[in-house]
Amino acid sequence: MNDPGSTVPSATRRLPADAAGLAEAAALLRAGRLVAFPTETVYGLGADATDPAAVTGIFAAKARPRFNPLISHLPDAVAALAEGVFDAPARRLAEAFWPGPLTLVVPAHTGTRVCDLVRAGLPSLALRVPAHPLARDLLAEVGRPVAAPSANWSGRVSPTRAAHVLDDLAGRISAVLDGGDTPVGVESTVVACLGGPPRLLRPGGITRAALRDVLGLDPAAPEAADADRPAGPGMLASHYAPRARVRLDAVRVEPGEAALLFGPRPPAGHETARASLNLSPAGDPAEAAARLFGALRDLDASGAETIAVAPIPEDGLGEAIRDRLARAAAPR
Ligand code: TXA
Ligand code: MG
Repeated sequence: MNDPGSTVPSATRRLPADAAGLAEAAALLRAGRLVAFPTETVYGLGADATDPAAVTGIFAAKARPRFNPLISHLPDAVAALAEGVFDAPARRLAEAFWPGPLTLVVPAHTGTRVCDLVRAGLPSLALRVPAHPLARDLLAEVGRPVAAPSANWSGRVSPTRAAHVLDDLAGRISAVLDGGDTPVGVESTVVACLGGPPRLLRPGGITRAALRDVLGLDPAAPEAADADRPAGPGMLASHYAPRARVRLDAVRVEPGEAALLFGPRPPAGHETARASLNLSPAGDPAEAAARLFGALRDLDASGAETIAVAPIPEDGLGEAIRDRLARAAAPR
């Protein structure tokens, strides 16, 4: 692994979710260091979005390709509105869902403080106002936009607790602010508002139905991206990948497989699986989303070569869950 830079100490500190931990996390970010922090979706790997050297550290620490732009996080909608140009649909979405698990891709304001590297050279900018109280307090204390991708090794499963962050990035980042388990469990919904119809770039914590209610129409599909330059890392075919192979819509669990189950009637053979976890015995997609990434990590740790995934319906957060699982199952 590459040394991400001299500003990164060899030991990563775990900071408590109290005033002292927040103050330390904010001071580190303001000094150009990398700090992972909880949001309501997943843990983010934060850096001062106005500081190109700090942002370079993000790409190095998680081995992320430089062409993949990052989301800038702000403490409130007023601060976010100052960084971009919001058309009418963008304003409606911001009003309806911020703070919350929605990212808006809008044209960058000419006066934006966010550096070019965060945007990967694009004229647009991804903005998000998280709802997690620790994230909001941290962002308010930093007083600058904070760039943050999910705090995992690039291409792997996103982290929903501090221990996941340390599993992937210990020794590569300065600290992780430990806020316990993240409640939503899948990343934010990404919607582009760039003048034309709003486009859904990534399903996530805000459902398609909720977007439709606010917009009065279904969000459009992303414009076709060319192979060299995907719309973003979440759009890469293979992503969110555990070590094990992932087999979707399994109606039977084969001997030796690990099983990821959903709902009250698990597929045949699950009793003799090498390991099995039910995302929601009651069949609740929100509960399943909250458990998804932790379950993939735990089943991977069982050593099984294949994780068989029971069918999960598309409704509500099911769309985001199925999207992540499809990428986890894609050829690598
Ligand atoms: O919930 C989340 O969104 C988490 C937390 C930490 O906020 N963050 C996250 O970041 O998932 P990341 O880097 O793993 O995913 C960023 C997504 C990419 O899939 C990319 O499509 C999109 O944001 N994105 C960022 N900037 C963009 C831009 N200018 N144009 C299009 N898409 C962009
Ligand atoms: Mg990610």
